Amino acid sequence: MKRLDVCLEDVQEVYAGPVGVLWELLMGEEIHVGGWEDTERLAALAGVTANTRILDVCSALGGPARHLAGRFGCRVVGLDATPKMVEEAQRRTEAAALSRLISFRLGDALAMPFADAAFDIVWGQDAWCYVTDKAQLIREACRVLRPGGTIAFTDWVRTGAMDDAIYEPLHRFMSFPYTETLDGYTVLLEDAGFAVVRYEDISGTFPAYCREYRRALTTILREPICERFGEELFFAAEQGIAGWIDAAERGLVGRGRWIGWKADE
Ligand SMILES: C[S@@+](CC[C@H](N)C(=O)[O-])C[C@H]1O[C@@H](n2cnc3c(N)ncnc32)[C@H](O)[C@@H]1O
Repeated sequence: MKRLDVCLEDVQEVYAGPVGVLWELLMGEEIHVGGWEDTERLAALAGVTANTRILDVCSALGGPARHLAGRFGCRVVGLDATPKMVEEAQRRTEAAALSRLISFRLGDALAMPFADAAFDIVWGQDAWCYVTDKAQLIREACRVLRPGGTIAFTDWVRTGAMDDAIYEPLHRFMSFPYTETLDGYTVLLEDAGFAVVRYEDISGTFPAYCREYRRALTTILREPICERFGEELFFAAEQGIAGWIDAAERGLVGRGRWIGWKADE
């Protein structure tokens, strides 16, 4: 599988700058497809309760962390590699009076700054596509989970064969080093030691979400984005999202949702 020369520093630059703001404008402070409902669905599948200790890997602005802590009263730690995201997540969490349940750590998902077996659930939403070594990410997730713990995540995946002329601009626009496949993630989970793995192909709704992002971008968001960040960014975003709509409609890209259980010792 082709990998682009996108490294963590590139992704940090994206989320420290205008493109990070653009994604929030398009998706909301839960920066993933499906917003609030998608978080509810993942929480139900993962079995979140008030007693759960969750690690949200690539937590960005902390929207899902506040959602989970506010709804279930559980404790959440957010891990993110971009200082601006961690600072903003902390600020919003204090403003929401949820700091007693939620904390954020600056760090790399490939070398998680946590002890073995520290969490009940490792959580991720539409972010691991940015990570340069997904096998290592999944191994780290398994290490920090207690025996019997759960990994629960959604991610953008490639679902069809693409030549470089399609693959490269799609991934370059998003600053994804590469995307996994649906089966690829399942293999990584099994290889890392997850005993039972289930996944859902949720690509069916993906084209409609991409079309909605483009509609919002080209209508209500056009003027504020051009004023704040310039026309160049607006046109690059419009073209980039159009590429994803086309690929999604042709069944080349989509999303998956995984739940895995770490074996009891
Ligand atoms: C799409 S946002 C995540 C959205 C978040 N999951 C949510 O649902 O609101 C992607 C985030 O991943 C973070 N990220 C990317 N690579 C990372 C890595 N190797 N370690 C930690 N964070 C990383 C970025 O800094 C960025 O904040």
